[in-house]
Amino acid sequence: MQLWRFFAPQAIGFTGKNLLHGLQDWVSGAPPRTTRASDYVAAHAEAGNPKDVLLKLDEFAESVRWLMSIGPNKDRVIAEAKAQLPDNPKILELGAYAGYSSIYMADVFGPAAHITSVEIDAKNVAASRANIAHAGLSEQVDVVHGSSSATIPNLSGPFDLVFLDHWKDLYLNDLKLIESHGLIRKGAVVVADNVGKIFGVDSYLDYVRGSGRYESVNRQATIEYTSVPDAVEISTYLHEN
Ligand SMILES: C[S@@+](CC[C@H](N)C(=O)[O-])C[C@H]1O[C@@H](n2cnc3c(N)ncnc32)[C@H](O)[C@@H]1O
Repeated sequence: MQLWRFFAPQAIGFTGKNLLHGLQDWVSGAPPRTTRASDYVAAHAEAGNPKDVLLKLDEFAESVRWLMSIGPNKDRVIAEAKAQLPDNPKILELGAYAGYSSIYMADVFGPAAHITSVEIDAKNVAASRANIAHAGLSEQVDVVHGSSSATIPNLSGPFDLVFLDHWKDLYLNDLKLIESHGLIRKGAVVVADNVGKIFGVDSYLDYVRGSGRYESVNRQATIEYTSVPDAVEISTYLHEN
């Protein structure tokens, strides 16, 4: 990722605020953000109510500390895929963080949807599992602790939807790994968050747009809880596999 892009004029306010909050957290020895977010959910959200859990995560991100969850504007882009999915979609997510997008997908795609979310950070695994449990969705969402590259070869597919939302420089290699392990079939939808210019994921975009293996559309958006420009790419797999 080209970090200098985060110091461009349209992003400097957002970057500065996050650096300052990060420094304050470090100096005060505050627990990780996702742990604090799940404590906030446990204290304030109605148990068994996914929409209320999402609302409380939004509230935390807006009034306490910014969260890199997909947030309330971009999540609707994922819902666009619904028309292309079966009634019981099998979903793979890379990057669970605080569980926001898993909870959103379980809610929007219905009780027959199943989500496997791969998360490398143990504290985020705990926080996402706690939020998912609070939303009453533990039966529908499995959070797997591990790195994407080590976990993908052991997954059993095929998946109808893949949501790429982990570190941006891993998107291309991990998508190719998913393909080579036969985890997607023709018609599967791959949604990639954070493909705006600021994230510098040109090689990923070149691949889904130019390889002939996908039909791909781009949706303009902003980085969650900010006005910094971003985008989401929705790509339909055309290959038989
Ligand atoms: C942007 S956040 C995910 C946000 C989440 N999808 C949501 O919208 O609520 C990115 C997450 O990816 C995780 N991550 C980064 N690299 C990873 C990898 N190689 N394998 C699994 N998880 C990874 C990070 O620890 C972080 O929690």
